[in-house]
Amino acid sequence: MENLISMRNLGVDKINSLIELAENIESGKVKSDMTGKVMGALFFEPSTRTQLSFETAMKRLGGEVITMSGTKGSSLEKGETLSDTVKIINQYSDIIVMRHPLEGAAKYVSECVDIPVVNAGDGANQHPTQSMLDLYSIHKTQKSLDNLKVCLLGDLRYGRTVHSLSFALGAFNPEFYFVSPEILNMPSYILDELDDLGIKYTQTDSLDNIVDDLDILYVTRIQKERFTDPEDYEKVKSSYVITPEILSNVKDNFKILHPLPRVDEISVEVDKLKCAYYFQQAKNGVYMRQAIITKLMEKCA
Ligand code: CP
Repeated sequence: MENLISMRNLGVDKINSLIELAENIESGKVKSDMTGKVMGALFFEPSTRTQLSFETAMKRLGGEVITMSGTKGSSLEKGETLSDTVKIINQYSDIIVMRHPLEGAAKYVSECVDIPVVNAGDGANQHPTQSMLDLYSIHKTQKSLDNLKVCLLGDLRYGRTVHSLSFALGAFNPEFYFVSPEILNMPSYILDELDDLGIKYTQTDSLDNIVDDLDILYVTRIQKERFTDPEDYEKVKSSYVITPEILSNVKDNFKILHPLPRVDEISVEVDKLKCAYYFQQAKNGVYMRQAIITKLMEKCA
């Protein structure tokens, strides 16, 4: 692995190998050492989990972190290009982790530098490290990634986590349910790619008659910041609120995941149920990000 930009074409072998490495790092069987290495963390969009879990991951591996949060205070404010900025970060660090509002930004940066680049979210496009920690969480709770019934619910149009995850899980013969208000349906370019890959899915706007059969319910926030027309947001906000009542007949192995942050789509009453896995999922992000840094730095050691 030279970069991690998208889940497209990552492949089953690389996914399994990252999950195994994350397991071994979590259990202490593998000790990866990044002493003397520096991670450049460039976050041009807000983040809590991705930024802080990457920083935690690098520090726990013994490495150092330099951070840019937004453009304020940097020479981007004086008109320096992204290309020149990352060529400079290239001189100071051994790996770049970047979140950017523009789709394709991480791929572009990977072509400007000669160190590994990790896409920490590019606009509404992809969020592959989130997908890898999602897969790790699903594997931990289901003991397998194969043949699962998985519902992706909420903002499927702008949600980069669900775009990435549909490709990631697609390699493991899932039965997908895509549940969203019509204006937030999964984009047709994603559905076309899933069709080409022979991945089965059902699209609907209601969770009724689905939830009791599921292994995984993956809930996402309706993202106010992605709407160009505020009236459209008002029409669909709070479309789904998961409550304990909805979950009264779920399967024993059933788990709820959410990339977080949440607004109101999962009631806080759900947090105490055994199927609520989203806080543990965020913790799993540190182990998976330690595994991703380790794999990408193998060639640089
Ligand atoms: N899941 C996720 O990407 O969270 P942050 O936006 O807080 O990084």
